[in-house]
Formats: sequence, structure tokens, C-alpha cells
Amino acid sequence: MNRTRRLRKSEGIRRLVRENNLTVDDLIYPLFIEEGENIEKEIVSMPGIFRFSLDRISKELDEVVSLNIPAVLLFGIPSEKDEEGTETWNDNGIMQQAVRFIKKNYPSLYVITDVCFCEYTSHGHCGIIHENDVDNDATLINLAKQTISHAKAGVDMVAPSGMMDGTIATMREALDNSGFPNIPIMGYSVKYASAFYGPFRDAADSAPTFGDRRTYQMDPSNRLEGHREASFDDEEGADILMVKPALSYLDIIRDLKEDFDRPIACYNVSGEYAMVKAAAEKGWIDGERVMMESLLSMKRAGADIIITYFAKEVAKILRNK
Ligand code: PBG
Repeated sequence: MNRTRRLRKSEGIRRLVRENNLTVDDLIYPLFIEEGENIEKEIVSMPGIFRFSLDRISKELDEVVSLNIPAVLLFGIPSEKDEEGTETWNDNGIMQQAVRFIKKNYPSLYVITDVCFCEYTSHGHCGIIHENDVDNDATLINLAKQTISHAKAGVDMVAPSGMMDGTIATMREALDNSGFPNIPIMGYSVKYASAFYGPFRDAADSAPTFGDRRTYQMDPSNRLEGHREASFDDEEGADILMVKPALSYLDIIRDLKEDFDRPIACYNVSGEYAMVKAAAEKGWIDGERVMMESLLSMKRAGADIIITYFAKEVAKILRNK
């Protein structure tokens, strides 16, 4: 008889035949950095995740480094917003200060910046508004300025999340022409207009004041369009392709893994984190096991890199194993 149970008999044999493993090397930890002083504010819908001002962030960074997490993804929350999000390309803006601070004090930590406008615009959309919608090409001009400003601050990698067409080509050209040909770009290539971003918008203060993001982020119904989006980013020279959110889009992660020879990242977003935390708090699920199982499913689907608010928790569990 074919007895598949033979290879499940003990932990020893299960370890030997295990096809996928989660390791600390897979993880990117997002950080919310707010302009100002003395800020260390827990995000209500994301227990354990805080907004920090730079003067309070060292203990968080010490922990990230001591857990051997390779990279952080920065989100800036400026004290001033305006129509265009001009603070995004202020060389002394919160992102730029944060990059300089981290690279100076934690040189081994790989620093990635989220390149977008929604936290910086008064209307909360990811670019310049023209006739009630985001103007793609006008936004690209500002995107180039923001990218160069992050590069000058010393960022290791940039990650545009605004879903404007032509983003990767614009940023690649801007970086190459400004003396930064070696800074890679991780494209939020296949990013869906998702309800799973809810808690993030509280965390980053970036909810749109009117309408939604469906004219630029993808329709959750679509799969082939995801391939098309990723192809454009691939052709334009994105170094890493990302799928976002992760858990409801494992099929898309698998598609990209099979169709492209670039590293594939996925973003285990705020709502996915909040669901696990909330159910665990109620005692309805074993939060730790559900967390590990979900992240493992992303690896199994084909993700090489996982951006997750669970990074510190996971790193602790893996270290103690
Ligand atoms: C900014 C951005 C968002 C997220 C990452 N970058 C929010 C959005 O598109 O509304 C979401 C991350 C998360 O939910 O954890 N464009």
C-alpha cells in the first residue's frame, strides 16, 4: 500500500522531508515614523505596532537588529500635508531624516522606503488630483523628485506603492541620471484595491478624504491583469516584484513566481495582521500558530520575501526553535 504516513511518523523525518521553511532572512519589518518628538503611540487596530518619532525609535531598531531581521520598510507621517505632498521631496523631511538616522546608527540594517504620496497629501490620494482623480503623468514628475530625495538621504532600496503607470521607468531613469544606478527598486507591482488596508490607513493617517483608490489600484477580481502589471514592471526594470495583499492573493504570488525570474515579495498587510490579533485576543484561534501557518503559506505559494508586522514575533520564535 502507498503509506504517506510513513514520512510523518516523527519530527525527525518530518524535518527531513519538509519542503518549505520560514526563516528570518525572508522578513522585512515595516516601521511608521512620525515627525515630532516624544511619540510612541500604539495603533489601536494593530496591537504591538507603534508610531515612533525619531527620538524614541532606537529601542525598536535595537530589537530589530538584535533579532537579525535584515530589512525595514519605512513609512513617514509628516506634520504638514498639502495638495501635492511637497514634503515628500523635502531633503529634510521625516523620511529623509529617518533614513539618515538609521543608516548612521544601524549601518548593517537594510533600509527600504515606501515611495508614495498618500500620507503627505491633504486629500489622502496617491498623487496630484485633477478633475477628481489622480493625474498619472503629473504625479510621475513628483515621484522622480521624491525618489531622488530618498536616494540622496542614503536609502538602500526604494519601493513605490502608488500604482501609477510608468512608475518603474520613471524612477529607474531618475536614479540612473542622478548618479544612483545601484539603488534597486521593489515594485508594488500587483497591488489590489483592498479592504485589508484599513488599519494601515489609521496607522499612517492616509485614508482618502473622498472616493477610493479603485482608479489606480487593481480590481480584486482580476488575475491576468496581475500578470500584465508585473510584465510592465519587469520590462521597466523593477528588481523585485511584489504582490499585495498576500493571504487572499496566494494564487497571484504563485503566478508571478512561475512567470518571472525576479525575486518575488509579498506584503502581509495590516488587515491580515489585525484579523489574527483580534481572533487570538478573543481566544478563538491560536494566534502564534495561525501566524506561522499563514506566513508559511506565502513561502509555499512562491514568495521569496515577506513584508510583515509579525517580523519581530516570528524572529523570536525562530531564534528559540
Ligand atoms: C500607500 C500604502 C498603503 C499600504 C502600503 N503603502 C495603503 C494604501 O494603499 O491605501 C498598506 C499597507 C498595509 O495595509 O499594511 N499607498
